[in-house]
Amino acid sequence: MVVKLNSFTFFGMQVIKVDIEIDIQTKVPEFEIVGLASQSVKESCRRIETAIQNSGFHFPGKRIIVNLAPAGIKKNGTFFDFPIALGILSERYEMENLDKIAFVGELSLNGELRKIPGGLLIAIYAKKMGFDTIMCPEENGKEMSIVDGIDVIPIRTLKEAIEHLCKIKQKTPINTFNFKEIITKIEEDENVDMNEVCGQFIARKGIEVACAGGHNILLIGPPGTGKTMLAKRIPSILPPLSIEESLETTMLYSISGMIEPDNPLILKRPFRSPHHTASDVSIIGGGKFPKPGEVSLSHNGVLYLDEFQLFRSNVLQVLRQPLEDGKVSISRAEGMVEFPARFMLVASMNPSYKSSDVDRWDPEEIKSVLKKISTPLLDRIDMHLAVSKVDLKDINYENRGESSKQIKERIIKARNIQLERFKKYNIFTNAEMSHKLVSKFCELKKGAKDLLEAIMQKYSLSIRSYEKILKISRTIADLTSAEIIEETHITEALRYRCLDKILSNF
Ligand SMILES: Nc1ncnc2c1ncn2[C@@H]1O[C@H](COP(=O)(O)OP(=O)(O)O)[C@@H](O)[C@H]1O
Ligand SMILES: [Mg+2]
Repeated sequence: MVVKLNSFTFFGMQVIKVDIEIDIQTKVPEFEIVGLASQSVKESCRRIETAIQNSGFHFPGKRIIVNLAPAGIKKNGTFFDFPIALGILSERYEMENLDKIAFVGELSLNGELRKIPGGLLIAIYAKKMGFDTIMCPEENGKEMSIVDGIDVIPIRTLKEAIEHLCKIKQKTPINTFNFKEIITKIEEDENVDMNEVCGQFIARKGIEVACAGGHNILLIGPPGTGKTMLAKRIPSILPPLSIEESLETTMLYSISGMIEPDNPLILKRPFRSPHHTASDVSIIGGGKFPKPGEVSLSHNGVLYLDEFQLFRSNVLQVLRQPLEDGKVSISRAEGMVEFPARFMLVASMNPSYKSSDVDRWDPEEIKSVLKKISTPLLDRIDMHLAVSKVDLKDINYENRGESSKQIKERIIKARNIQLERFKKYNIFTNAEMSHKLVSKFCELKKGAKDLLEAIMQKYSLSIRSYEKILKISRTIADLTSAEIIEETHITEALRYRCLDKILSNF
């Protein structure tokens, strides 16, 4: 007897349909899985047999051969436990429509279905392939039901599945996730706010500019001045996630198996802060069956790298690709895997152990710290903000500054101006402007031009700095809806380039 069931696996972001054929013959008892199965699939044999027996079913003492097709592809994980067990049990129990349903799930030894990674991805693909029903572990149910137009039947145990398929006790599919209702929650529910940060007015305004123009930033200052605190609050002033962004980010968390069963959609911009000892695989992504790294888990959010200069040099080197292309490519024997990785980089460092006063930093000391970071990488960071000690007079818990909500309103306005400006150019923010676009869109008032030229000469700044100052000034002007860049915009922008003098003769 041969039964056929449909299942899925994935590699990177690519879903692969797997046909499971099970042949059961009255011969010497044997149980084998063929079709280029990875080690974990082979281990499934023991698990499936035990799970079937512990669920109170009879495991046939026959020869069972399971073929996973297509055979040429290495199959990941344990997604096939559940369909294989069902196939074996179909010899005794009459189940309907086995070939019309998609099945995924790992089994535990007592016959319960365990959560799998990639549920959302699989559901999207199963729907595309024309399946109208998918049976999955209960914990994946909500995540998979995000996809409209496919019935998701969440299953707790093998026994429950058999009862459903034999029409003894049927389960109702979960209703499609109520997107509209969920999406309204994107705006609410913030538990951190910029107004909790005392003082740091320049850094705060600088961060507002960075968020408005999509600029990456480096926070420089002694410990305990609120760098981490400020960085953590950046998602609260960024515009809310759009539905598309929310789905993109959710997909990456789904592949990583990081979706909470009850809150399957990622509604907040992520904030990730890996430690500087983290490996390149954990930051960039990878592994035998490639998983997204921190850069992808920060997709559409913030990647905060504290003690930037202490990260391994190979990690810092590979950061360049996502910063340039908004994605990472990981090469594997099986082919290239790509994950989206568009994030705002917020780095921080303490450049001097001698003085906590920004104005008294020793340029040589800063240079030696910065040496560890390559120029092309530093080049991707438009703004350097000094975060010095908070003035005693500014430590005031009564009179809090502006709330994240107020700041966010201005940022959204400035972003809309940029969307309009760049609608023909396939970019969204000032930070992404090419050399050509800078000269097209950064028109300066006469006084502003003179001022910038004088400063360039005085400090012998590079052309690279010149462009960055223009980009930042453009964003500052956008925050007040000014069309032409004025002197005050230039002076403000210079404040956010505190390393310029040091870097220009680097
Ligand atoms: N500007 C500030 N306003 C309010 N609290 C602050 C400020 N700076 C530091 N703190 C307090 O000190 C703690 C440590 O700050 P942190 O952000 O980790 O500093 P850093 O990252 O610069 O070393 C914070 O959790 C906060 O309680
Ligand atoms: Mg810190």
